Amino acid sequence: MKYGGVVPELASREHLRAIVPVVRQALEQAETCYSQLSAIAVTAGPGLIGSLLVGVTYAKALSFARRIPLIAVNHVEGHIHSVLLENPDITFPALALVVSGGHTHLFEVREPGEYRLLGKTRDDAAGEAYDKVGKLLGFPYPAGPLIDKLAPYGNARAVKFTRAKMKGNELDFSFSGLKTAVLRWTEQHDLTAEIARRKALKNPTLNDLLELTPPATLDLLASFQRTVIAELLKRAVISAEQIGAESVIVSGGVACNAGLREEARKQYGLRFYFPSLHLSTDNAAMIAAAAFPKLERKEFAGADLKPHPGLVLA
Ligand code: KG4
Ligand code: ZN
Repeated sequence: MKYGGVVPELASREHLRAIVPVVRQALEQAETCYSQLSAIAVTAGPGLIGSLLVGVTYAKALSFARRIPLIAVNHVEGHIHSVLLENPDITFPALALVVSGGHTHLFEVREPGEYRLLGKTRDDAAGEAYDKVGKLLGFPYPAGPLIDKLAPYGNARAVKFTRAKMKGNELDFSFSGLKTAVLRWTEQHDLTAEIARRKALKNPTLNDLLELTPPATLDLLASFQRTVIAELLKRAVISAEQIGAESVIVSGGVACNAGLREEARKQYGLRFYFPSLHLSTDNAAMIAAAAFPKLERKEFAGADLKPHPGLVLA
């Protein structure tokens, strides 16, 4: 990726280009057609305004032209439903940790549809921290999956990072201090040459990157990953205990993280639920899943539906 991240303007243009063929292909693959649909679910927020606008405008037009009811879904509720979709046996109250490139949020889920925000990041989201650390070390975007795959090659106890201490709500997260600590370490160890070599690679494989990443940098990555996981799980466990949660739902792109899944399995006494990998990152199935209870309640959106970049779930 040339830009090392999502460029809002390019993202909305890409949405506009893709939306018609993608919807058509989805209908074909599901062997269905518009006349068989009970409703059209669309993400109303939170997110980038340009991309949301494309989705909402298209869904409204389809709903109007085909006379199919419209359902507005919160993107974050979608991530929670990606887990409920595959695990209908989950018992409540549950604690949900939504952890992606845009969110690091803890919710109490009293039952599906009833949410209370317990804590969130005050600066970077966990996925964003992975991507920024990856960028400063010369890894391609998105760096989260790469760091996850490289971390087992390093010693996770080699670099000591100070853990974030939160004033006020102890369930809030902060990752910017960790990102700065990685930057300092990089400056102290002069990684200029290896960073330049990694940056010069075009579409590198994991093996290419592994060859150009010395043991000390692998230790740094492993230690960074260990710290992020510890920060996430610590607050998830505290809040799960506070609300008497029977289940812990982890979802969003960072829920793909193998280290996080492994550490979660060691948390005895709490039942952790992760989505399949393809439902962890952004997908449309989770939006349909979140819309289903609204369809049953006939909770439809009107023609005046507008995208809300800062939409909150509560
Ligand atoms: O949920 P998602 O697809 O999009 C957002 O709503 O942000 O999450 C994408 C984020 C990126 O920051 C990416 O680096 C991160 O999830 N990610 C991971 C892993 N796979 C994806 N982070 C850590 N470990 C992974 N295995
Ligand atoms: Zn997402």
